[in-house]
Amino acid sequence: MPGEVNGLFGRPTPRIDGVAKVTGAARYGSDEPLVNPAFAYLVTSAIARGRVGALGLDRAKAVPGVLDILTGANVGRQAKAPPGGDGGPTTTTLETDRIWHDGQIIAVVVADTYEAAREAANKVDVQYMDEPASATLDSPGVDIRSAKPDGRKPQKGDTVAAFAAAPVTVEAQYQTPAQHHNPIELFTTTCVWDGPNLTIYEPSQFMWGLKAAVAEQLGLDPANVRTISRYIGGGFGAKGGITSRTAWIAIAARRLGRPVKLVPTRDQGFTIVSYRAETRQRVKLGAARDGKLTAFSHEGWELTSRPSGYNVAGVDTTARMYACPNIATAVNVVHADRNTPGFMRAPAEMPYMFALESAMDELAYALNMDPVELRRVNDTQTDPVSGLPFSSRSLMQCFDQAATKFDWSARNAQPGSMRDGEWLVGYGCAASCYPTNIAPAAARLSLTPDGKATIGLAGHEMGTGAYTTVAITVAHSLGLKIEDVTVHMGDSDLPPVTVAGGSNNAATTTHVAVKACEEVRRRIAEAAVKDEGSPFHGADPATLKLSERALTGPGNSSEPLAKAVGRTGGRLEVYAENVPAGLPAAAMAGLYKGKVMFSRGEARKDVSAYAFGAHFVEVRVHSRTREVRVPRVVSAFAAGTIINPLTAYSQYMGGVIWGLSSALHEATEIDAGSARYVNDNLADYMIAVNADVPSVDIIMVPEHDDRVNPLGVKGIGEIGIVGMNAAIANAVFHATGKRLRELPIRLENLLA
Ligand code: MOS
Repeated sequence: MPGEVNGLFGRPTPRIDGVAKVTGAARYGSDEPLVNPAFAYLVTSAIARGRVGALGLDRAKAVPGVLDILTGANVGRQAKAPPGGDGGPTTTTLETDRIWHDGQIIAVVVADTYEAAREAANKVDVQYMDEPASATLDSPGVDIRSAKPDGRKPQKGDTVAAFAAAPVTVEAQYQTPAQHHNPIELFTTTCVWDGPNLTIYEPSQFMWGLKAAVAEQLGLDPANVRTISRYIGGGFGAKGGITSRTAWIAIAARRLGRPVKLVPTRDQGFTIVSYRAETRQRVKLGAARDGKLTAFSHEGWELTSRPSGYNVAGVDTTARMYACPNIATAVNVVHADRNTPGFMRAPAEMPYMFALESAMDELAYALNMDPVELRRVNDTQTDPVSGLPFSSRSLMQCFDQAATKFDWSARNAQPGSMRDGEWLVGYGCAASCYPTNIAPAAARLSLTPDGKATIGLAGHEMGTGAYTTVAITVAHSLGLKIEDVTVHMGDSDLPPVTVAGGSNNAATTTHVAVKACEEVRRRIAEAAVKDEGSPFHGADPATLKLSERALTGPGNSSEPLAKAVGRTGGRLEVYAENVPAGLPAAAMAGLYKGKVMFSRGEARKDVSAYAFGAHFVEVRVHSRTREVRVPRVVSAFAAGTIINPLTAYSQYMGGVIWGLSSALHEATEIDAGSARYVNDNLADYMIAVNADVPSVDIIMVPEHDDRVNPLGVKGIGEIGIVGMNAAIANAVFHATGKRLRELPIRLENLLA
C-alpha cells in the first residue's frame, strides 16, 4: 500500500478553501453571527508581582450599557485553573488575588457594546499590593532549577575528558530573545449557552483539548461542550494551549443569559496567552583535526513563570544531529514574574539549533574547513543518542543540492574578503531538522452513489492547507476528483484529532483518512465479489480497487462507482480510528478525553524519525551603516512524502521567512524594572516584511521513507524556520569577521 498511495500524492493542488477565504465566506471564530450578543473587555494587571486589593467598580458601573463586571469576589472559585503546557497551572485568575505577571486578567467587564465595555474597563480602579518583580534571566530574585531529573537528557561517554583531550575546540555562549507569535487573528473567545449546552467559538489548534479542558474547569459534562474553529488566522503554537480567558467568558455568558464575545487587544495578546521564552545556551565542541567530533556538550537556561516548569529542552534534538561518542546535555528553567511561555514555531529546535549550528560554523573556521564538509564528516545514519537507525536522513543531499543551486563554490572562505561596492558580502549555511511526530485520530467518511465523498474530522486549518491535504488523500484513495470531496474540520462535534502542533498534522490526518477510505473500499469490494451479477463475482476482494470513479478488478474488469456503491445499500458511512504504530490503544481513549499522546520522532523504539534540511544565505552588510540585507536564500528539505507540493512550498517558504525574521528583527523587549513587555504592538514588534525578503528558493529533495510511517509523511510545518537564524549569523560573520552570538542581529551590534 505505501508505495501505491505515495504515487498518488505529489501533484500541485490549489487549496480547496481558497475561494471561501478570498470571498469572506471563511469565518474566524469572532465572525460567527450571534443573536443579541454582549461584549467583553478585559481588565489586566498593571503590575507583575503582588496582590490585587480592593477593586473600585462605581465609576465603571456608571458607564451606560454596562451589564456585568466579573471579579474574583463574585465569580472566584467558579472555575479551576486551566492546564498549562507542562500540565501545571498557567495563571489562576479566578482562584486567587495573586498577581503572577504583568497583564494578568483580573476582571472582565461586559456591556451592550464593545465601546462601553472598553470605557468601563478603563474606569475600574484597582488597588495593588506591589512587590518587586524579576523580569528576565539575570534579574535578582529569579529561581533557577534543573528542568528534569538527571538522566532524562541525552548523556553518553565522558565529555569532560574528551573535550580536554581534543586538539580543536569551540566553547561559546549563545542567547535568543523572548518572542511573541503575533498572529493576525487575535485571541478571541465567544461563548453561547443553550440550556446546559455551551458552544465556544475560539481559534484553537486543539478542538477536543479545549472542549475537555473547559468542561473540567467549569465542572461540566464534556458532552455539553462544543468548540468551533473552522479557520484560524495564524496559530504558531499560541492557539494550542488552554488559557484562562475562556472560562471567564463562559461564566459571563451564563450569568447574563446572552452570548458574550471577547476580542482582546493586541497588547493583551502578549500576556493572556503564551510566547517563546528567552534562552541562554552554552555549547562546547571538541574535534579531531579531520573535523570528527569527539565531545559535544550543550546546556540551556530557559525562562518560565513562577508556577509553571514549562521548558522546550532542545538538546533532545541537537544531541542527535551529528555523530559523536561523548555527549553531555542539561536544561535549567529560570522562574521569573512573567506569564507562562509555550509552544512557538519549532519551540525547541529554533533556539537550540541556533546555538549548535553557530558553534559548528565556529568549529569549521577553527579547523580551516568548509562548513559543508564539516557536516559531511560528522553525518550519520544512526541516532547518536539511542543508537537506532534514522528512518531516513537526507541531510547531505539537502546540503549538496542547495549548495549547488546557491553556488556556494563561489565563496572565498576568508571573512571580510567578499565585497560589492560599499557592501560587505557574506555567505553562510546551517542545518535544519525537525522530529517526525504522529498521533491518534478518528474520522467519519461517507460515500454516496453519485460519487461524492464527505469526510469529517476535528482537524485544524491554520493557513497551512490542511483541508486540501485531507481532500487530496480521500480523492486519491477513493479514485475521485478533488471536487468530489467535501472536508469538514474545526468542530468538536466531529471525530477527534490531536493538537495541531509539533508538525504532526499532515501525518496524523492523512493516515486516518486513508484508513477510512480503505474501509469503504473493503465494503464495496466485499459486496461486489458476492454479487453473482457483477464482473467481480468470486474474486478476492483485496484485488479490487477504486480508481477514476470506478471499481476495477483483475482482467480489466470494471464497473461505475455508482453501481458498486449502490450494491452496499446506497450510502456508505464508516467511522475510522487510527493509532500509529508504537502507541498503546489507550492513546485513542485519551484523545477522546482531550489528552495528547504523540509517537515522537526521538522517543520511538524502532527508528529515530526526523526530517532534515539545509539553508544557504547571502547577506550584505553596508560597510559604513552596517545595515544588514539578505538578498537571497536557498533552502533544501527532505521530509518524506510531499502530499501537496503547492502548499508545501508555501509552508517551507513561510518558515524560512520567519527564520530570517527571528535572526534580524524579532524580539520582545522587556522592561527590567517593571517586568513588562514594551513593544507589544505590530508597530514596534518588528517582523520581516516583503522588502526584507527579495528571493527565497526552496528545493524539495525527494525522499522515500517506508519506515517512518505507512505513507512516508514526515510533516513540514516547522522545519523551514529551524537553523535559518544560524545561517544568517554565520553569513554575517563571513561578511564582517564579527561573530554575533545573541539574537536578533541588528546594525547597532555590528558598529565598532
Ligand atoms: Mo506548533 S509551535 O507545534 O503549534
